[in-house]
Amino acid sequence: MAIITEEEGDVTKTIHPPVTKESTMKNPKPQSQSQSQNPFPFWFYFTIIFSLATLLFVSLSPLYSSSQNDPRSWFLSLPPPLRQHYSDGRTIKVQVNPDESPIEVFVSESGPIQSENVIILHGLGLSSYAFREMIKSLGSRGIHGVAIDLPGSGFSDKSMVVVGGGDGEIGFVGRVKEVYGLIREKGVFWAFDQMVETGDLPYEEIMKIQNSKRRSVKAIELGSEETAKVLGQVVDTLGLSPVHLVLHDSALGLASNWVSENPQSVRSVTLVDSGVNPALPLWVLHIPVVREVLLGFSFGFEKLVSLRCSKEMTLSEVDAHRILLQGRNGREAVLGSVKKLNHSFDVAQWGNSDAVSGIPMQVIWSRQVSDVWIEEGQRVAKALPKAKFVTHSGSRWPQESKSGELTDYIADFVSAIPRSTRRVSEEPIPEKVQKILDEAKAGGDHDHVHADYTDAYGLGEGWTT
Ligand SMILES: *[C@@H]1O[C@H](CO)[C@@H](O)[C@H](O)[C@H]1NC(C)=O
Repeated sequence: MAIITEEEGDVTKTIHPPVTKESTMKNPKPQSQSQSQNPFPFWFYFTIIFSLATLLFVSLSPLYSSSQNDPRSWFLSLPPPLRQHYSDGRTIKVQVNPDESPIEVFVSESGPIQSENVIILHGLGLSSYAFREMIKSLGSRGIHGVAIDLPGSGFSDKSMVVVGGGDGEIGFVGRVKEVYGLIREKGVFWAFDQMVETGDLPYEEIMKIQNSKRRSVKAIELGSEETAKVLGQVVDTLGLSPVHLVLHDSALGLASNWVSENPQSVRSVTLVDSGVNPALPLWVLHIPVVREVLLGFSFGFEKLVSLRCSKEMTLSEVDAHRILLQGRNGREAVLGSVKKLNHSFDVAQWGNSDAVSGIPMQVIWSRQVSDVWIEEGQRVAKALPKAKFVTHSGSRWPQESKSGELTDYIADFVSAIPRSTRRVSEEPIPEKVQKILDEAKAGGDHDHVHADYTDAYGLGEGWTT
């Protein structure tokens, strides 16, 4: 796993493997060894080797250069429809773990706030952008549609700051990069100066600086527990409970825990071509060179999508997903989430559990992909007590080419369920949340809410802080 390290006051980020405080502390031995030797040649060769290694490292990974990971230049390089989608939405801060920095979650919504709330969760490899049309059509049918970018996808944060090291061992290469980073920061002659002054290598100094300054940025890996926290906080912040959930593709496994834990907040669940594994074969993004080609160029990614996910999407739609998947180290995050998928997830066990069995369910499935796939859909629908089963004419990513069909199924299903009584009005809205809501209202047009892109990405002070 590679991570991004970030020095204070330095906007540019570079990729380094994980580094831990423990493992650097484990290595105080060289002090006694080196005292008996002349340290000069050591530092000389050290510096040269690291310069060469870094040159190699940087030249071999042009697709992951710093400009790719700098949020602002990344945003400015986006095609207009993606930028439009971003400015139509907003970000919400969620705290997944108390010892980690808050994560910004991007939310796109449409429709009257006081009506039924439909939350759409995308499968891995996608984002809320795929559901922009569905959100709009739900809105025009009087339903409040909300699509969330799961952390690690779309415009949500894809990595988080971990102060004071991460976890696990660092290898030789990790330590080499660590020391190289320090030399680069302090200048080549810093170590020499130290030696002239003290007559010894500045190991203690190195340790001190590393431990105080090291903030590692780790890719966000989303499992069902993390998704439950994210979903819970988004629902609370926006006052959405109770909700109708629409789970596409692998989102079923991710959201299943939250549904089991919060059945009182769920009015209905609609599954759209769901499975444990995402339709997009994300595992290929583990393979070096293949991943660079797939994520770096439109044609490869388009081929992959047309083979496995959808043949009906336009080129620019497919390319938008490629760009969102690739940008800001998204590949790392999505692959981390794939790794955390619950492969023993059993839809029958989940659907028949006491908490979930009372929730109305609908299964929307493709009749186009294959006989095997439609049988899978029937199996899923049968496994769920009293689930309604309907088919659509799209493929496993139907939400863009068949948005109207899907919206009709969802809107009809939601309207057939007795209207929700809002719980929000009974409870006082927390002051912080009220402030956000007021600001959003006062903003009126979307530009106001997203006045400054840098704010939303935490480069400035965000409006939720
Ligand atoms: C994985 O799925 C199984 C079967 O549905 C379930 O019992 C288990 O709790 C799930 N594990 C996690 C971590 O969600």
